[in-house]
Amino acid sequence: MKDAVARGKTPPAAVVIFGASGDLTRRKLVPALHSLACRGLLSPSTHVVGIARSDLSEEAFRRRLFEGVEAYARYRPGEHLCEMWPHFAARHTYLRGNYDDPETYRRLGERLAALGDTEGNVVFYLATPPLLYPVVVRRLGEAGLAREEDGFRRIVVEKPFGHDYASAHRLNREIHTVFDEAQVYRIDHYLGKETVQNILTFRFANTIFEAVWNRDCIDHVQITMAEEVGVGHRGGYYDRAGVFRDMFQNHLLQLLALVAMERPAAADADTLRDEKVRVLEALRVDGRGVAGQYIGYREEPGVGPTSRTPTYGALRAFVDRERWRGVPFYLRSGKRLAEKVTEVAIQFKEASLPVFTSSPPSASPNVLCLCLQPDEGVHLHFHLKEPGAGMATRPVSLTFHYADLFGERGLPDAYERLLLDVLQGDPALFARADEVEWAWKVMDPVIARWERPDAPAPQPYAPGSWGPEAGEAFIARDGRRWLHLCGKHGQMSGRVGVLP
Ligand code: BG6
Repeated sequence: MKDAVARGKTPPAAVVIFGASGDLTRRKLVPALHSLACRGLLSPSTHVVGIARSDLSEEAFRRRLFEGVEAYARYRPGEHLCEMWPHFAARHTYLRGNYDDPETYRRLGERLAALGDTEGNVVFYLATPPLLYPVVVRRLGEAGLAREEDGFRRIVVEKPFGHDYASAHRLNREIHTVFDEAQVYRIDHYLGKETVQNILTFRFANTIFEAVWNRDCIDHVQITMAEEVGVGHRGGYYDRAGVFRDMFQNHLLQLLALVAMERPAAADADTLRDEKVRVLEALRVDGRGVAGQYIGYREEPGVGPTSRTPTYGALRAFVDRERWRGVPFYLRSGKRLAEKVTEVAIQFKEASLPVFTSSPPSASPNVLCLCLQPDEGVHLHFHLKEPGAGMATRPVSLTFHYADLFGERGLPDAYERLLLDVLQGDPALFARADEVEWAWKVMDPVIARWERPDAPAPQPYAPGSWGPEAGEAFIARDGRRWLHLCGKHGQMSGRVGVLP
């Protein structure tokens, strides 16, 4: 993985967005490109060609994008002395067309040829509903637009990538009939998050942690992805997906792979992804697990009144490799939980014997917690001697917060990093075909268990809680408890946290 900023400006290119009238373009893609332009990282010869079925004038399209940039970009027009908008927007055009009509692609070809200053480089971004991915790919192929004759041609595929192993495999095959794997960038936006990338630096650039990153010292690992929001207007999609497809197959397994992988032998994208694949190949999710559904979910728009779709899940997994033999990884995620927080907690084994007989037996084990969002940071929980007579110990924590060092807006949005990498041709932070397929192979049996007609219904839980009671009982059976260290209400939310 190369340093994207050190690589300098992106080359000239056209970014063609299919599904350009949708939310992703307005909230994420164009704001991210604008922020890159403000940071001086985007070539001035970057064009955006939006394609969608809506009847939008060029002016209405740009106005929509401007509103998105004003509302969501890290660098907004006029802020940070960024006066890029007029130049930037002048290179945005809109093409109305049907995704299955060869005429749309003929006109797109003409539009691209007329741009003049892109050196033939094109990124195609699939931001349409996933059902349309194969259609767009096929039509691009038929129109000869995927051929790298003058410049590069790359395709970015948004999630969900398939619904199960079979459909993901089929989609990979369809894409590969038109694009080589080296041209394909499958997005998992968690990989674009700065704190997620930091997992690798944290592990491999710090001898003190890497040396204890194994079953001799680690008791277990917990990964939590909790959200406060419900399904909102995405009920139609979500009700067919559920939490195990929506969060576990991609984001949670990606985080687990980064935590558990071996040090890559080289810094290139494929060596990194090979190591992640090895973790997925060795991953065993055991038969236990919990599925929950928040009360009120069935009344959400787009959700069936008798839906059994889980909105909360908790699983236990093992990585069957020497480093991790016998170490459980507890994974949980849910919507409408008490707070938005993503954290990885590594709980170390208890010190084998109390050093002093007067130490209270309750002295809790060391915990290292990576707070991925929000209030990004790292906490290390350890023991001190209570001042005064006696040798009682007290748990305290060392804390690092990104905001203290880099400011409140110091962290780029994930899409800024990912678009930069696509334009610069570095696929390290994108899922390779086999990686996505392995992740489905891991999750398919788990999902099938919950979708069998005789499967128990997901356990109801109150919005604003930490999920169903069964979720607590699930981990308590192993003599452990969920840790909640990061975030507003985390046990380490203060600068000097103290675990109860
Ligand atoms: C998406 C899921 O991939 O990730 C959503 O489809 C979820 O359901 C979102 O809300 C969470 O992303 P973030 O960046 O807000 O943690």
